[in-house]
Amino acid sequence: MEERIVSGTAESDELYEEQSLRPQTLKQYIGQEQVKSNLAIFIEAARQRQETLDHVLLYGPPGLGKTTLAAVIANEMGVQLRTTAGPAIERPGDLAAVLTALEPGDVLFIDEIHRLPRSIEEVLYPAMEDFCLDIVIGKGPSARSVRLDLPPFTLIGATTRAGSLSAPLRDRFGVLSRLEYYSEEQLREVVLRTAEIFHTDIDPAGAAEIARRSRGTPRIANRLLKRVRDYAQVRGNGVVTFELAEEALELLQVDRMGLDHIDHKLLKAIIERFRGGPVGVETIAASIGEEAGTIEDVYEPYLLQIGFLQRTPRGRIVSESVYHHFHMEVPVDERNR
Ligand code: ADE
Repeated sequence: MEERIVSGTAESDELYEEQSLRPQTLKQYIGQEQVKSNLAIFIEAARQRQETLDHVLLYGPPGLGKTTLAAVIANEMGVQLRTTAGPAIERPGDLAAVLTALEPGDVLFIDEIHRLPRSIEEVLYPAMEDFCLDIVIGKGPSARSVRLDLPPFTLIGATTRAGSLSAPLRDRFGVLSRLEYYSEEQLREVVLRTAEIFHTDIDPAGAAEIARRSRGTPRIANRLLKRVRDYAQVRGNGVVTFELAEEALELLQVDRMGLDHIDHKLLKAIIERFRGGPVGVETIAASIGEEAGTIEDVYEPYLLQIGFLQRTPRGRIVSESVYHHFHMEVPVDERNR
């Protein structure tokens, strides 16, 4: 996958930096109003009953704040957050080590939970349902299963692909929350909040311009703000104005809709090589040298969201607005579609 400033995926040093930007409470967390209102009730109810919160599955495109929300939930429940990720758990013993280290009430966050091997999912089922762990000791005829009690805990799973989770795993979550892309107004709030934490002066119009080009994704908004802040410091007097934001974002090749060179490459390939579609994702992938899975998980969701791409049974189609965006003439058969 090519490097891109508008990627929703976090770099590891960025994850560390994000800690200081992260909201601590539901009240501080901007956006996702429906998810927050539901969670606030479930959290309060669990607290009143002095029980653990039911297991929560958070799903949606990268960069919308799933990890942040898990930390907020743990904080609101007044418990510790333990974090791991699907690809980090390779053997049942890895999961057993994580589970037996939990303290009563803890939140265990498993990022990219769809990447847990199936054999490990099976260890997770009794852990989620009955807070116990079935361990097989020995081999062959003398092998026997021992049941270990675990402290009650809340599992929060995060995934960009709810559809890739096995049905039995998905069914064991009591709360399923889908995170949505943020509105421009919500992103503007995120940018203003982050600028305040950075002690950066920013005009409302500067914040709005960064928000407009952030693909509905707070992680991208924060990343663009950092780059625009650098530009404003070197080329201006440090204040992030509309003009400086516009110049910096042009220089970063992030266009007015927040699309970058990879989006351009993908959309133009469909227009120029496949007459606007329909064309299968595998064919697009081969033609631009990307993996189909990366296109589906990373590049495509936002293009679908803004209506630039449509997914049909016969493949992907670019919509008329893409031709307008590129100042291209709309082909006659496209107009009649
Ligand atoms: N920073 C990143 N995402 C945020 C959010 N949803 N609310 C507040 N600050 C954030």
